[in-house]
Amino acid sequence: MDDDQRSAPPTREFAEALSGGAAGERAGLLGLGRKDPRSLIAVRHFAGPDSFVGQLDGLRIAHLTDIHVGRVTPMAIQNAAVALTNEANPDLVVITGDFVCHSQKYLDQLEALVRGFKAPVIGVLGNHDYWSGAAEVRAALKRGGVEVLDNAHTTVTLRHQRLQVLGLDDAYTGHADRARALKGLDARLPTLGLSHIAEEADRLWPHGVGLVLSGHTHAGQVTLARLHELAIGHLAGHRYVHGLYGTRRRGVAPGGAVYVGAGIGASVIPLRLGERGRREVAIFELGMALGTLDEHHGEQAPLKGRAPAPELVAKRNAAVHKKQAKRAKQ
Ligand SMILES: [Fe+2]
Repeated sequence: MDDDQRSAPPTREFAEALSGGAAGERAGLLGLGRKDPRSLIAVRHFAGPDSFVGQLDGLRIAHLTDIHVGRVTPMAIQNAAVALTNEANPDLVVITGDFVCHSQKYLDQLEALVRGFKAPVIGVLGNHDYWSGAAEVRAALKRGGVEVLDNAHTTVTLRHQRLQVLGLDDAYTGHADRARALKGLDARLPTLGLSHIAEEADRLWPHGVGLVLSGHTHAGQVTLARLHELAIGHLAGHRYVHGLYGTRRRGVAPGGAVYVGAGIGASVIPLRLGERGRREVAIFELGMALGTLDEHHGEQAPLKGRAPAPELVAKRNAAVHKKQAKRAKQ
């Protein structure tokens, strides 16, 4: 049995039992019901930071994260996410890691999926990509037309506007190198940051990275009774669980904003319950003034959180190397 089979979804009956028979997502929790998969995905709109106003003119960025192409998330949902993104007509698509689940079995599907985006795509890797084989995931993304930033930055020109995009490699498995990513960054350009782990944003803001987009938490997937804050915040130690944190206002502490996307897929259990736990495509209108858009929510106060000890990160890093060595022997 391969890793992705081990993560096979529970039965629909199980999911329905967990949903308490509620309407809404029940029939489509696993993407197995008759519901249009598009209805399972929330498309949320936000303005960018104040500092981008005057620098950019309505540059539209679509943010997806944690697509986890594999057995757990039906391709109908993945394709619906791409279709909804294309319909939003973004200038740029960014994807913040966890492209796969536990194996390299679905890399062809991943490649075909990302090729479906009409706009240019830039991404960073997440912990599942490292666990499954970062080099192979990177190669599949590249074949599909995605530019992957590994502790690097690039400048894109979209509708005659220049946007700097900085991509931090996965911090969960100890691959983030902030100094390398920031080297040569042009402080005069508006800069968008990408990082699988949201807490890295705090240390990017002082360098002029006004907005960081991230993932990893899946918004907790089950957000009823604030269960996501308990699981992701108090137990897993994240300060940022889902949505906007920090500030988009110029000259106001803490000097930048971070958005944690709820993700599209899952690697273990596909169950998603509660409004905040819905699969999500987030659209950011960079250069648009705050207050112009009817936003889903504003900046939230961070949770207390608990940064992982360096020893723990080193252990996660060693586990990646161990998996890599095991694959090389096969
Ligand atoms: Fe993930």
